[in-house]
Amino acid sequence: MALLETQKLSINFGGLWAVKDVDFAIHSGQVVGLIGPNGSGKTTFLNIISGIYQATKGKAYVKGEDITGLKPFQIYQKGISRTYQSSRLCWDLSVADNLVIGLYTSQKSSLFDVLFRPRHCNEEIYAGVQEAMDLLCYFNPDLVDKRYVLTKNIPHIDRRRIEISRALVGSPSILLLDEPTAGLNEEETMTMMKDIQKIKEKIADICIIIIEHDMQVMKEVPERIVVFNAGEKIAEGTYHDVVNDLCVINAYLGGAER
Ligand SMILES: Nc1ncnc2c1ncn2[C@@H]1O[C@H](COP(=O)(O)OP(=O)(O)O)[C@@H](O)[C@H]1O
Ligand SMILES: [Mg+2]
Repeated sequence: MALLETQKLSINFGGLWAVKDVDFAIHSGQVVGLIGPNGSGKTTFLNIISGIYQATKGKAYVKGEDITGLKPFQIYQKGISRTYQSSRLCWDLSVADNLVIGLYTSQKSSLFDVLFRPRHCNEEIYAGVQEAMDLLCYFNPDLVDKRYVLTKNIPHIDRRRIEISRALVGSPSILLLDEPTAGLNEEETMTMMKDIQKIKEKIADICIIIIEHDMQVMKEVPERIVVFNAGEKIAEGTYHDVVNDLCVINAYLGGAER
């Protein structure tokens, strides 16, 4: 059974089908890449899966369980975690504070715990930060000494790593990465590519859906690529399959063939 599956997943914004009839499946341990021209619906697809947008029609399932229409925190509880195309960090806060802020989704303490068991809450926060910090240092050991440095003063790639580490706290089974190399230079992009491979080595069963424009990353990281154009899935296969697919070439070159 697929870990995550969508059937005819669609969303309409004021007459425009931003995502239309997308059938998609990913199994445990797989890495799948999403590519497509700007505005082709890649981010919107992840937004529906993660509950930020409600599908107009179609369904999404995690391990066969219908998750369509669930709220983002409920979908997170089903094991789906994500990062965003634009940074969600508070740049005037330290690395550690950003990790604390990001932990609220994985926190189990209730209002009762906050009021009457503050030590229990503190321990939970501390354990979450420690978990995120361990992941962060797995990417870059130097960051352990930089945990009280303001995020605006650390390199862009390390900021991306904070977001990914935060998303990995609580051991999600599915990680959605929306353009993790956006804004990185060529060298940093290659480092990020290795980081994603490191996630796979550390957490063998995790499945990752990665939106990415850099075709070198797409060649090296995912085992399968899904191509979007104008909200629809127009091709799917290995890197070799999709770069030689006429529909894909036309979509990228602005051709009319579909
Ligand atoms: N909240 C929204 N309201 C209206 N249109 C939207 C909204 N979100 C996305 N869209 C539209 O959906 C289309 C797909 O956008 P997006 O998923 O961000 O593309 P991509 O990530 O592939 O670049 C675009 O035409 C965009 O303008
Ligand atoms: Mg996008």
